[in-house]
Amino acid sequence: MSATEFLQRNREQHLSELMEWLRIPSVSAKSEHKADTAAAADWLADRMREAGLTVEIIPTAGHPVVLGEWRGAPQGAPTLLVYGHYDVQPPEPLDEWTSAPFEPEVRDGNLYARGSVDDKGQVYLHVKAVQALLADGGTLPVNVVFCIEGEEEIGSPNLAAFLKDNAQRLACDTVVISDTTMFAPGLPSITTGLRGMAYMEVRVQGPSTDLHSGAYGGAVVNPANALARIISQLHDEQGRVAIPGFYDRVRELTAEQRQGIAGLPFEEENLRKEVGAPRLGGEAGFGPLERIWARPTLDVNGLLSGYTGEGAKTVLPARAMAKISMRLVPDQDFHEVEKLFTKHVESLAPEGVTVEVLALHGGQPWHAEGSGPVFDAAARALESAWGRKPVFIREGGSIPIVQAFQETLGAQALLIGFGLPGENAHAPNEWMSVENFQKGAEAIAGMYEELR
Ligand code: BES
Ligand code: MN
Ligand code: MN
Repeated sequence: MSATEFLQRNREQHLSELMEWLRIPSVSAKSEHKADTAAAADWLADRMREAGLTVEIIPTAGHPVVLGEWRGAPQGAPTLLVYGHYDVQPPEPLDEWTSAPFEPEVRDGNLYARGSVDDKGQVYLHVKAVQALLADGGTLPVNVVFCIEGEEEIGSPNLAAFLKDNAQRLACDTVVISDTTMFAPGLPSITTGLRGMAYMEVRVQGPSTDLHSGAYGGAVVNPANALARIISQLHDEQGRVAIPGFYDRVRELTAEQRQGIAGLPFEEENLRKEVGAPRLGGEAGFGPLERIWARPTLDVNGLLSGYTGEGAKTVLPARAMAKISMRLVPDQDFHEVEKLFTKHVESLAPEGVTVEVLALHGGQPWHAEGSGPVFDAAARALESAWGRKPVFIREGGSIPIVQAFQETLGAQALLIGFGLPGENAHAPNEWMSVENFQKGAEAIAGMYEELR
């Protein structure tokens, strides 16, 4: 039986296995889900063993790494490492889900659940592809190592050290990752760039306690006002980030790269409708795809201060807080950006409050040329699964460890995503296309065949 036949015959079975995995709420950010996160690792380890891999669950200072290996390829064959994550984002707000986040449901050909596309569905199709090839005494043309972590959604705090400590065992030529999206339905895509990340928290402290805003207001500096003033000075009128030195290392797009982006089938109005905002906006001089893929940003992710309940309360808050993330592009360095941000925000602190800046987590940006035999094999396999040549795209999201894989292991990263625009990753009603789950597994199995 061919791998494709195996995958097609067992289609329903594979889908129901994935649904079982999705029922485990492996929310890495929340300590109350620590046992669930461990259970999701155990579940995956068992399925990987069934697929024919030798599996070990390796503890870290945080959530464990699931390592699977198959090393039966002919002497001198290259090694492929499959990276992904079994942790998921918190599901809140719960009342906006049509079906509960951890009770997976198929509607209109899409599988709805937290983690369906980010990243359990995309990891699991790799497990099934390998199983399809190894079934009935089959073999793979390359050695394979699966490295599936449980902390991607919290910035992979322990994985860089894990890679260094296990560099020998993880040695590989290519790292294959399915944790991104296709540019459009039916259009297979290879992602050659991701943005990096510097995630900061700003705490502003004024008086030692909340005050009556009439009895004291006017004579005491208000930390909420102060924080708003600081934030208002982080961009200029052109929509550029106003931190001195922020753009010093930004690699400008080449004319060729801008042409490539302009040649993709993209309608600005469709993006506007997808996000539901009255109009799009951003840095002057760039189109939406350029802004998302190749320009750095600074965004407030959360703001907290004072009274936000029903009605009015006259209060001068004691403190204010903001969570601020910056998406970075080559050749920015997140350590350096953290320092530039901290210095600048401290310099903006008005008298009368104290400002504290914390760096929560970071990751380096990544960009690749996207050529070589593995890319060619992947492109051919994607073409035969979808009947269309893949497009090469970049994406605005971050996978903090990709650049570290290249630096620590000297391996080329190959990103083939099977998500779709509008998939609601990190949001209520996350879904993965059932067809992409199926075709993705067939394409990955096909890629191994192409490497033979
Ligand atoms: N799968 C995403 C990365 C992604 C998102 C790639 C969108 C392409 C497009 C990943 O799980 C993720 O959410 N990453 C976080 C990283 C952060 C927690 C350091 C992100 O991008 O916010
Ligand atoms: Mn992901
Ligand atoms: Mn994610």
